[in-house]
Amino acid sequence: MFEVKTTAGASKAETYRELTAQLAGLLAGETNGLANAANTAALLYQGLPGLNWAGFYFLRDGGLVLGPFQGKVACVRLTLGRGVCGTAAQRRETVVVPDVEKFPGHVACDHASRSEIVVPLIKEGKLLGVLDLDSPNLARFDAADAAGLEAMVKIFLQGSDLRQLAD
Ligand code: SME
Repeated sequence: MFEVKTTAGASKAETYRELTAQLAGLLAGETNGLANAANTAALLYQGLPGLNWAGFYFLRDGGLVLGPFQGKVACVRLTLGRGVCGTAAQRRETVVVPDVEKFPGHVACDHASRSEIVVPLIKEGKLLGVLDLDSPNLARFDAADAAGLEAMVKIFLQGSDLRQLAD
């Protein structure tokens, strides 16, 4: 059994160090992209406080298609260049949105979401999708989350074969 463990009261940077080490252990010896995406979403959802959604969208036929996630049922297809996910994918950079109501074109899958962070999945120069985290709290995410999640995405991409999931 794998138990997600974080130290209470630790800084965000320390929590991400703990979670990154656990992710590396969790994915070790397995390259199946679907399984690894599912466990990465579960680890993030369990390990980070204040989330109401954590999961993946993968690039398919020029759009983003829902992948493994934890949280309420979500929008299946998103358009590149629109919403937070589509913007992060198009810009190929992490987007932090402190207040989703102030983000033009935000796609509201769960009306409880107040803030959001999206990290693009880029492997060998190719955009494969995005990792999306939502929170019911305003301004839940900042530069420390961006740095921590980018490190975790790196581990996920290194250890996962996504050829069946993304174009
Ligand atoms: N809010 C996202 C859509 C995905 S859901 O939050 C799970 C967006 O604006 O792209």
